[in-house]
Amino acid sequence: MRTYLVTGGAGFIGSNYIHYMFRKYGSEIRIINVDALTYAGNLENLKDLENNDNYSFVRADITDRDAIADIFKNNDIDRVVHFAAESHVDRSIKDPEVFVITNVVGTATMLNCAKAAWELPDGTFKEGKKFLHVSTDEVFGSLPDDGKSYFYETTPFSPHSPYSASKAGSDLLVKAYMDTYKFPANITNTSNNYGPYQFPEKLIPLLIHNSLEGRDLPVYGDGMNIRDWLYVDDHAKGIDMVMEQGRLFETYNIGGHNEKRNIEIVNLVIETLLELLPDDDPRKKNVSKDLIKFVEDRKGHDRRYAIAPDKIKKEVGWEPETTFEVGIKKTIKWYLENPEWFERVTSGAYQEYYEKMYG
Ligand code: NAD
Ligand code: TYD
Repeated sequence: MRTYLVTGGAGFIGSNYIHYMFRKYGSEIRIINVDALTYAGNLENLKDLENNDNYSFVRADITDRDAIADIFKNNDIDRVVHFAAESHVDRSIKDPEVFVITNVVGTATMLNCAKAAWELPDGTFKEGKKFLHVSTDEVFGSLPDDGKSYFYETTPFSPHSPYSASKAGSDLLVKAYMDTYKFPANITNTSNNYGPYQFPEKLIPLLIHNSLEGRDLPVYGDGMNIRDWLYVDDHAKGIDMVMEQGRLFETYNIGGHNEKRNIEIVNLVIETLLELLPDDDPRKKNVSKDLIKFVEDRKGHDRRYAIAPDKIKKEVGWEPETTFEVGIKKTIKWYLENPEWFERVTSGAYQEYYEKMYG
């Protein structure tokens, strides 16, 4: 049985990944989820796994070397999937330091602990061990709005926000471990994800939440910035395929040629909400394009992101399966059917769950 150490599993992508893995492998795998439970970590995302003997949770900070080393000492970890990070660009503009600590120092701690646990006396590594570092396309900077330039694995790093600079730092550390020690790892750089369990500070869940409450929908700048959107389950599948089939020491870009301007997303979310909400749902009267408010632009706002997913398709056989039309409907339906999720996240009640279950 393979044992996975997943960092940041209580966050958006981590929790979707853990669900995906148990759906795919069932009792063939064991997952240990290590998460500090910051504002972005919501253990309720995984409450259906509380009684699963193959799942366990450890509350620890990835910068805590002793706590992470203990997990490796007490468990024969085969795979590390490293999601834990500070992930929101706007927060990084306000408070950059914690991004450096978690994203750079935390990744260094994870690498050190995995290396110590997996290294043999001759400097090679135990058979079958692998570390997968989950990163972002934002490390590559911004593309011109020309519809034909893309981020490739070979595109030089040119991060602009403190968030993307700290992720670039973490990617370079993983590269350094691979180059220096032949440390068994892969890096994935992925475009903007969307789906269930995403904290409503990011564009799509924020639009859904604010629309349902009749609050303003802030559109930064002219609303013409472009992001390349990927359904979170497709990302989870890509991570698993790179882990199992990707060549060691390689980087893979994960994205699906799904570029949209922000204003298109805003309009589509409103239209889809109006389509999906029944007429007698009291939330429907709040939803309107009148809520759209153009606001001051984000500082250093990257204009366009777009991934070239050719390498992962050719080498690993991964392609996205969920079209945006299907994925956005699925996503909005999930938030409409789980109104208590938004309620508990916005009131802060989700943070009491850990004390109740583990305290
Ligand atoms: P998220 O903010 O939803 O979740 C981050 C998780 O990490 C939370 O559970 C949080 O509690 C945990 N965490 C934060 N600091 C920690 C620390 N010091 N120690 C232990 N745990 C800590 O983020 P997400 O959107 O799920 O992103 C996951 C990963 O994917 C990140 O590395 C991010 O850079 C990357 N990524 C995200 C996107 C996206 O669109 N969301 C796109 C590309 C790459
Ligand atoms: P976001 O979801 O924060 O992801 P990222 O900055 O990592 O791409 O933002 C996606 C895009 O939406 C980005 O161009 C900024 C823009 N945006 C708004 O216009 N209004 C908002 O309230 C938010 C959160 C984002």
